[in-house]
Amino acid sequence: MTYKVGLLGLGTVGTGVAKILQDPAGRHPLLPNIEISRVGVRSLAKQRDVEIDPNIVTDDLESIVNDPAIDIVVEVIGGIEPAKSLILKAIDHGKHIVTANKAVIARYGNEIFSAAKQKGVYVMLEAAACGGIPVIQALKQSLGGNRISELTGIVNGTTNYILSRMYFEGADFDKTLAESQQLGYAEADPTADVDGYDAADKMAILASLAFGDRIKLEDIYREGIRSITSADIGYAKELGFTIKLLGIARRTDSNTGGKDDSNLEIRVHPTLIPIQHPLANIHGVTNAVRIEGDPIGEVVFSGPGAGAGATASAVVADIINVVAALKSMPNNVNQLMGCSHEHYAKIAPIENTVTQFYARLLTHDKPGVIGDLGTAFGKHCVSLNAILQKNTIHDGLAEIVVVTQRVSEYNFQQAISSIRDLPTLHSIPTVLRVL
Ligand code: HSE
Repeated sequence: MTYKVGLLGLGTVGTGVAKILQDPAGRHPLLPNIEISRVGVRSLAKQRDVEIDPNIVTDDLESIVNDPAIDIVVEVIGGIEPAKSLILKAIDHGKHIVTANKAVIARYGNEIFSAAKQKGVYVMLEAAACGGIPVIQALKQSLGGNRISELTGIVNGTTNYILSRMYFEGADFDKTLAESQQLGYAEADPTADVDGYDAADKMAILASLAFGDRIKLEDIYREGIRSITSADIGYAKELGFTIKLLGIARRTDSNTGGKDDSNLEIRVHPTLIPIQHPLANIHGVTNAVRIEGDPIGEVVFSGPGAGAGATASAVVADIINVVAALKSMPNNVNQLMGCSHEHYAKIAPIENTVTQFYARLLTHDKPGVIGDLGTAFGKHCVSLNAILQKNTIHDGLAEIVVVTQRVSEYNFQQAISSIRDLPTLHSIPTVLRVL
């Protein structure tokens, strides 16, 4: 029996998927049973990098999700609409879904998975987080025997490329971003990547699978990398760290006793990572995810997080999984491939986070400044781990870098507020968390 795929989108990822499905030799033995029966595109006139029978190509995307002959709808259009509506309509018509759309899943997963459950169809999303890295299936199946305590990831390739270049070349953010845009590594509008939105979408998906509940995107604390300067990268290096945009999802042993008693943290922000940490040496556009679980301990996945081949690899794996499930159990849903989450997780507010902090301060170069800073930190129970003052920079200002011991975000921010009131303070250009 042949299983018919309706492919929505023939851009970079869609083209990669079509190329694999048209050339099954040496790949999974189920591939010859999978046929691209229709392809939906926005523009019929556009030149494509893959040969597709023009008779199966249409710009009427609705006609694909309604087509009774199609078993699996593969959505690789991206963006919210019309992707979300097409997915929901396809589910309503009893189609299984394979999607690479993190933005839709992170925002509308609740609606989509509830509809899929009602219809008894699969919604597969391996390509929606970290492209070619098989981390979704690992979380759903291979690590199922573990109680996961932490999932930490470099889940955005663009920012990792920018930060890697800043680390190796000592260049500033704006210059590196502009060059990355010229080279095609960063989008013309880099907001989703550099401000951490893309990473937050992926962390909502990964944390939901790791910790077994639905996640509201707006509960994820998010900061991007625009404030990182070459000076910060240099100081971090000197102190034995590198700086990465990290997604961190973890269950803490305890909480700070505040009004919110959740012990689940999910946050995306630039982070100082000790140079010996497994994520510190993931450079360029590569993504990596480190998972800690009981009993497995630590596992680290790394690989290409984007691009035609990597993302298509994940999409095709999902298609194969759906076809295998349909062949072996046509009247039942394979529970390992479904979504079993019913409730939203309660996420701890950022104030409850307990971590080390890095701060770069500019002060007037006067006697007693270090003493003033120490007193302000001490008053809020913030203990210092390292303090660096290299040189007076200009206009009589001194640059002072501190790294704290582990402290609650609340206490640290209180200390920073009182430091802002010191007459000797000029400004605090950077505050970062340490892993
Ligand atoms: N824009 C993403 C990144 C790739 O830079 O990692 C697609 O998820």
